[in-house]
Formats: sequence, structure tokens, C-alpha cells
Amino acid sequence: MGIGITAVGGYVPERVMPNAEFEALLETNDEWIVARTGIRERRIAAPEETASSMGVQAVRDLLKRSPKALEGVDLIVCATSTADATFPSTAALIGLQVGLPSSAAFDISAACAGFGHALGVAYGLLLSGVHQKALVMGSETMSRTLDWTDRSTAILFGDGAGAVVLERVPDPYGILGVTLGGDSSGGHSLYLMNDADVLPGLEHPGPKLTQNGREVFKFAVRIVPSATLEVLGKAGLGIENLDFLIPHQANVRILESACERLNFPMSKVALTLDKYGNTSAASIPLALKDSLEHLKDGDVVVLVGFGGGLAWSAVALRWKML
Ligand code: UT7
Repeated sequence: MGIGITAVGGYVPERVMPNAEFEALLETNDEWIVARTGIRERRIAAPEETASSMGVQAVRDLLKRSPKALEGVDLIVCATSTADATFPSTAALIGLQVGLPSSAAFDISAACAGFGHALGVAYGLLLSGVHQKALVMGSETMSRTLDWTDRSTAILFGDGAGAVVLERVPDPYGILGVTLGGDSSGGHSLYLMNDADVLPGLEHPGPKLTQNGREVFKFAVRIVPSATLEVLGKAGLGIENLDFLIPHQANVRILESACERLNFPMSKVALTLDKYGNTSAASIPLALKDSLEHLKDGDVVVLVGFGGGLAWSAVALRWKML
């Protein structure tokens, strides 16, 4: 038996914010944003929405397609940088509302690489037999972390949530390999401090996301190909075996450069950033949900994430939805 994804769900808030809305707020325009990022619009959470409430909606969406998917879940892992509270965890708050109040539940902090880390940790706990079935999530209210006067970051991010169920599946399907990695020396290139937080050597800019876009861009263009090849290599596969790439959705130019280096066609890359922007840890499960119609049983799929930490994650799967 292997361990694989057997159910997928996603949620984005109703409110659509097109690029044009920034023209009244900042010195920017739709053409610049589309040309430099590929983003056309993003979703913005309503005032009452939180990471946990959106996570619950993502689980409800998953249950629409797979009504029995939560039966037997004994572990909930939620990747988020915008938790409702430091504790209880967002995972626990979601579990309580979806009828899983007794599951082990905790959050993962690995920024935009968080979903891959959450999948990797859950995979290890299932593989070792410590847990039997996991609900793995990414949920983010990134719009609340933004400095809306900073044109280099405000235009990039959006809100949303995604959820998958991870459990035992018949061979040869399921997870083929996991790669988690970091370059903590680059942590100052992308960070988010809450009011009481302290980062040695850095001035507190207020509870707003701070990014050196060029540095993160260079990191991402290097790490997407190397993590993809590394995780395929762990499965004894090469780029010629890859059927579909589901990357973190930060900037289409990053993905074009990475695919050029990989010699992999953009037509086999999931792209949702045009409509959702960068939803951090939620972007990969949301992109996976949007890709379901393109995936065939037996396809080799890689999920690859990168972001604050600096951190990266890649998970290779042989796809089959049960
Ligand atoms: O999920 C976390 C991972 N994050 C990322 O992957 C983000 C990676 N970085 C990026 O996506 C890009 O670096 C950005 C989209 C953030 C910026 O694009 P860029 O092509 O790297 O622009 P730049 O930072 O080199 O800036 C070029 C110019 C600058 O003006 P000057 O100094 O040349 O006069 C910026 O001030 O573009 C200006 N600029 C803008 N102009 C219009 C920056 N943001 C904007 C804007 N509208 N929104």
C-alpha cells in the first residue's frame, strides 16, 4: 500500500478585487501587474472570514465530491501564516467545526512552502503508523498582512483555502517522494512580524509583510527546478516522466523561467494566479483542485512550493483519486 491524496476541496471568498482597483490606491496599473506577475484579480476575505472559517468552507467543498472523506480522520494539519490565533491552532478550530473534535490537530508555519511541509509531515506520521488518515490544509487571509500603500507587495496576494485527505491507497499510486528544504540565511528577504514579534537585526515595520521581491524571485527561479528534479529523482524518475506540475502561485514569470530551465512545457503547469493571486499556503491545494479535470489515473504529478524562511517543498505523486 502507498499513501496518497483521495479527496480535494477549495474555497475562495466571494469578493473579487481586479487589478484596476489598485489604480485608485497606488501608482500602478493593470498592464504593469499583468505583465510583471500574470495576476489579474484576487479574492479578499469578508471582515468576518478567518483562516479557520475559510478552511471549513474548503472542507465542505471537499465533502461535496467525496461525502465520506472525513471518516476515520485522526490527524489535521493546517499550513498557515495567518492563523486565527496563536492557539488554539487553526487546524483545531477547523476540526471542531467539521465534526473532528478529537483528532490530533496543529498548524505548520513555513509560509508559501507550508502546504508541502504539512503534506510531508502528515505523510511521515501515516507512513510510521502513528496516524491513519489525515486532513491536510492550507488557509490564508493574506490581505490582512498587507501594507496597502506598498505597490510592490499589495498587488501580489489574495485570500483562500484548500484541503486534501491523505490516506492509504493501493500500489503503485500515492506519494512517490518528498523534499523539504531551507535556506534560513535568506529569512530577511521575506518576513511577517506580528505586533509583539522580534526578529534580531531587523526593525519592526508593523504587522505587515515585507519582501525583497528581486531576491525572492531569484531564489524561486533556482529552487522550483532543483526541488522538482530532486523529488522526481527520489522516485527514480526524471523530468521526462512528469505529467503535470502544480507549483506555488506567486508570479507567472518565475514559472516560465523555471520551466525553461526544466525544459518542461507551460501547458502542463497549473495556473490559477491570474484569478487568485498569491494565496501563500493555500495556493497549491487550490491549484490542485482546479487541475482535477486535467489529471488522469497514473499521472506523475509534482507539487512544488517556495517562500518565506526561506523554505521550499516538493511532493511527487502517482495520481489516482479514489
Ligand atoms: O510567495 C512568496 C514568494 N514571493 C515571490 O515569489 C515574489 C517574487 N518577486 C516578484 O514576483 C517580483 O520581484 C515583483 C512582482 C515583486 C516585482 O517585479 P520585478 O520585475 O522584480 O520589479 P522590481 O522589484 O525589479 O521593480 C522594477 C520597477 C521598480 O521601479 P524603478 O525602481 O525601476 O523605478 C519598482 O518600483 O517596478 C516598480 N514597481 C512597480 N511599478 C508599477 C514595483 N511594483 C510596481 C507596481 N506597479 N505594482
